[in-house]
Amino acid sequence: MKNYNRDLTTAKCSPGNNAADDSAIKIIAEKGDVIAYDDVDFTGAKRLLLEAAVSPKSARTVELFVDDVSVEKEIGIIDIGDRVKANDFDFSEYYANLPCISGVHKLILRFTGHTELEADFFRLSAYMGSETEAGRESRMKWWKDAKYGMFIHFGAYSYLGGRYCGKVADWYSEWIMDALKIPKEDYAKNAVAHFNPKDFDAKKIVAAAKSAGQKYIVITSRHHEGLSIYDTKIREFRDFCLMNKSCCPEYSGGDILKGLSEECRKAGIHFGVYITIMDWHDPSQEGWGESRIAAGHDKSEYVSRLKGQVRELIDHYGVEVLFFDGEWVDWWTEEDGRALYRFIRTLSPDCIVNNRVGKRNPSDGDYGTPEQEIPAEGLGYPWESCVTMNDSWGYKMGDENWKSPQWIISNILDIASKGGNLLLNVGPDGNGTVESVPIDNILAAGKWLKRFGKAVYGTEKSCFQSAVDGDLRITSKPTERKIYIALLEADPREKGRITLPPIDREILAVRELASGRDVGFEATEKGTVIDIQKTERQDFATVYEMTVDRY
Ligand code: GLC
Repeated sequence: MKNYNRDLTTAKCSPGNNAADDSAIKIIAEKGDVIAYDDVDFTGAKRLLLEAAVSPKSARTVELFVDDVSVEKEIGIIDIGDRVKANDFDFSEYYANLPCISGVHKLILRFTGHTELEADFFRLSAYMGSETEAGRESRMKWWKDAKYGMFIHFGAYSYLGGRYCGKVADWYSEWIMDALKIPKEDYAKNAVAHFNPKDFDAKKIVAAAKSAGQKYIVITSRHHEGLSIYDTKIREFRDFCLMNKSCCPEYSGGDILKGLSEECRKAGIHFGVYITIMDWHDPSQEGWGESRIAAGHDKSEYVSRLKGQVRELIDHYGVEVLFFDGEWVDWWTEEDGRALYRFIRTLSPDCIVNNRVGKRNPSDGDYGTPEQEIPAEGLGYPWESCVTMNDSWGYKMGDENWKSPQWIISNILDIASKGGNLLLNVGPDGNGTVESVPIDNILAAGKWLKRFGKAVYGTEKSCFQSAVDGDLRITSKPTERKIYIALLEADPREKGRITLPPIDREILAVRELASGRDVGFEATEKGTVIDIQKTERQDFATVYEMTVDRY
């Protein structure tokens, strides 16, 4: 589907300036007036989304036609209903279902009565608001198979590194504004104004992620401090972004997010962004940890801008995953989450969204986000544990408590054996450089993954999920009839054998993955005993591949 032309024909209009990015068209139409858009490609379109601020005086419906205004060419109705704007910035989504239309046509919107609206944009989409189990499986497939990604926390807090005006903040460095209750203006002056990530090297970071065996990257586009670290065009946010000289005067480099997304694309790494709902800087909010909507403000105006950012991230940065956060504020509701989710999938039907788009319920978004923990039994729906490489998400001076390569491999295997993903964080410093120890550690783990990644990527949990030894982690690839048994840390020669509970499949072979050599096993009704005495211990984990007759 191609984008449309903003070609306004008969309706009276003037350029508006209220849309999130100032591009709305102000329309004052009377009954029978039309707006026509040439060359609209309807291929695959099932729904139309109109993003508009509609005044209370408006008629309730807008009729849709293709090519010309005639009964035969009518294709649907936009129901404006009672959802009229609460303020000038209140852009809402209006959806219309479409019949199956193929090819390129003129799209005509006809007003059924006096209408005053600001039309921000419209979009045709294949997303109908729901999907089949099979559709969901195929959309989520790359992400589930990926198993392992890199999280990057980067913002003005990276410049502070956990210290501010002689004070050291406890806990996560990106929470320093809250921890020390730093007023917005002071934070802008003492942190943001000095943030100059001149050494941020997207190519190097992507190359490290790739060698580390990470299949996707998720970077903070705007964290709770409110600074957008990319060239946002959205009202208010653009006044507080890295590319804006009046807030980051020292920075003269390019758009970090653009650079990273391009490098990811070149390297075949999937690209996602983190985006906060709660924002300690935004004029719409006050307070820190639990922001409140500020007096005289309305959340719908902020939400319009949030959607504006989501749209620019999807359209211009090719974002495939949206990781929301800061959703716990009580002014953000489950219903807000559902509306935002529908908006995202309409713009980008294949996009994958975390559960913090809503309130972290199993039914919110597409996947669960256990933080700094691995659920003992996994979760009954797609999930990803996000974990810090040391003890802070953002760069923190002196925090050297790095996860080791052994930790990384053991935990990837543990997570994979429970059907989840690992999103492992790095926090570049204020210049944009990632310290060497975390990079060395992920690279060392990457060497193991290069040799034994078969036991991780594209796997699911196995039929041995429970009832296995403490030092075994077991994954499976049902389509290939393979089961991967990883022995953590212990020396196979000392351990001598692996004992597994019985399974109702015939075991055809077991081989040592490192050498490719078959190893002996004995399967009885009581279980399977694999003889590993002659196999060699590998760093971090030793893997055996079992082939079964069916899965
Ligand atoms: C939290 C924190 C935050 C961090 C995030 C990662 O909710 O507020 O600082 O970005 O989780 O999951």
